[in-house]
Amino acid sequence: MNSGKVVIFERDKESAELIKTYLSEFESPVCDMTFENYEEGLEYVLQTHPQIVVYSETGNADFDRKTLTSFKENNISTIFLSSNYTTNLVIQALRAGAKDYLSKPVIKKDFFASIKKCSAENVKTVNKSNIISIFSNKGGIGKTAIATNLAVEFARQTREKVVLVDLNLPLGDVTTFINIKPSVSIASAVEKASHNGAEAVLNACKQYKNTSLYVLAEPIYMEETHVMTPTHIYKLFEYLRESFSYILVDLGTSVDKMNLKILELSDLILLVSIVNLPLIRNCQRCLDLFKNLGYDEKKTKIIINRYLENDEIKTEDVEKVLNQKIYWKIPNNYFAIMSSINKAMPVCELNENSNVTLSFSGLATKLIEDVIAKDVVYS
Ligand SMILES: Nc1ncnc2c1ncn2[C@@H]1O[C@H](COP(=O)(O)OP(=O)(O)O)[C@@H](O)[C@H]1O
Ligand SMILES: [Mg+2]
Repeated sequence: MNSGKVVIFERDKESAELIKTYLSEFESPVCDMTFENYEEGLEYVLQTHPQIVVYSETGNADFDRKTLTSFKENNISTIFLSSNYTTNLVIQALRAGAKDYLSKPVIKKDFFASIKKCSAENVKTVNKSNIISIFSNKGGIGKTAIATNLAVEFARQTREKVVLVDLNLPLGDVTTFINIKPSVSIASAVEKASHNGAEAVLNACKQYKNTSLYVLAEPIYMEETHVMTPTHIYKLFEYLRESFSYILVDLGTSVDKMNLKILELSDLILLVSIVNLPLIRNCQRCLDLFKNLGYDEKKTKIIINRYLENDEIKTEDVEKVLNQKIYWKIPNNYFAIMSSINKAMPVCELNENSNVTLSFSGLATKLIEDVIAKDVVYS
């Protein structure tokens, strides 16, 4: 788990040490500063804007209330600590703006839960970037076609910075749809980046033509020593979130540790299927898995690719089997997609009026609207 920067306000040395020990167990160093002098600490926090403050009560209720309120106004999550637990004190602290309340001595399990709660809040309010994963546990059904064309549309419609990440490892195929020449492996870029900076990762992202779209793809011959792990994924997303508003991910088909980490960290999952009974059943299995993993229902959107108007199996039948509404249907257009692959160009650049171009554009608009409307639920 990672939590961003944490500042501690604590006069009791033993308690401060205990919290620092807990924080040292996080993946990256998170304890920024510890203050015994609260006035100094207050000035520091308002200048540096850490994500979380662990604040032990001073005994001066008025001072504590004002400080908690000013932290809240600055979007800083506060965990309030006190030795005298009373319902009244808890209510007062929460009303003043604390995100959570813990009694001293702080128990590790409670502290971790509290940090997790604050980190999740920060993702929602401070960091507005969204990770959208395109997934299916079967290959050859259009994940890469959808990921690349959607990424182009997201950049065109929002004009914000968008990155398309090829995590279909080790043999990604984004470059079959979009002409980009990657130079370094994603894993080695993540390894090179120090915990403070994301330069190596950002340098590995190639700008697509003159647009706000960047592509992070694997080179064809990935060095064998650089294998991605779930920790790499965590760091990679952390770096990308700093620079991009939308992070679109093209995944492989296996339900392994790596892909599960990507799916867990995603704000939205576009689960792709085609109308064909075995594939719909597979889709159903994925939905069951996501449910068992505790993902919110709204996190997964069903996308039907290669849709044919007169298909024997109707949309309603599919929805019945899946017990979920279909979010979007992309028409079958073999020629448009094949010529896009042959030229390594997104379909909207080749044929702006084709039914697939219009469909990708409509899907992007709907997703952007939903994300903006905060339809996105974090799991
Ligand atoms: N909407 C579509 N209409 C027609 N053919 C499609 C469509 N989307 C994908 N395809 C075909 O399916 C093949 C596999 O697509 P791809 O995006 O590479 O799948 P995946 O990434 O899931 O393996 C493509 O080569 C293309 O021929
Ligand atoms: Mg693919």
